[in-house]
Amino acid sequence: MNTIVYAHRGASKLAPENTMPAFELAYQLDADGIETDVQLTKDRVPVLIHDENVRRTTNGTGFVQDYTFKELQQLDAGSWFSSQYINTSIISLDEFLRWIKDKNLKLNIELKNNVIEYKDLEDIVYNLLKSYQVLDRTVISSFNSKSIKRFNKIDPNVTTAYLTSQKIVDLIPFAKSKGASGLHIKNRILSKSLLDKAKESNLYVSVWTVNRPTQMMRCYKLGCKAIFTDVPHVAKETLRLFNK
Ligand code: G3P
Ligand code: MG
Repeated sequence: MNTIVYAHRGASKLAPENTMPAFELAYQLDADGIETDVQLTKDRVPVLIHDENVRRTTNGTGFVQDYTFKELQQLDAGSWFSSQYINTSIISLDEFLRWIKDKNLKLNIELKNNVIEYKDLEDIVYNLLKSYQVLDRTVISSFNSKSIKRFNKIDPNVTTAYLTSQKIVDLIPFAKSKGASGLHIKNRILSKSLLDKAKESNLYVSVWTVNRPTQMMRCYKLGCKAIFTDVPHVAKETLRLFNK
């Protein structure tokens, strides 16, 4: 089984992360899926943005949770990346799902609730995914283990994964105890022994953020379930070479 290639925040090396142009490019570049980050606005609209604060990726300042969705849409989320993307907007999860619904793409929805614990984020996201009938091709991930547990309580049939960059003792039993099906780990902590141990416990392993062909090859050889990459075209080409 081939390793799945997710475009991390869309094709985020080529277009502003978590925006429509980055998602469109990922689709055109033949990514298998898209990873995106979800936060909640003041009026409780799930929106796609990585940071809790809009400063880095827009022309605004302040926290996502202090903006209504309408206010957030007025910000320019493209020109920080390149003038080519001036006036690109932040989009809602709803808009993203409308776009992806009829495309042959997997989804990785990362709940960004490890810094700010947005109340009911799990229920809000779950209901939307359900209404678009995409739950069977979605993975829910979070650095917040309590959130993984909450999501599994809502629907134990959804695939969930615990995100970590730390090789903590008892990582595998810890993730299992939250009901996770997988571990999404930082490339730095990837090792054969971790993969073997996870496999013994029936936990799959995926890796982020894998941007170099040598790192990709290693993930493919080790049989990682998926990689998250800012350059999906490079990952797909490397996979073709790996399969030759
Ligand atoms: O979901 C994988 C990866 O996106 C986790 O880290 O900070 O890029 O959201 P981050
Ligand atoms: Mg992410």
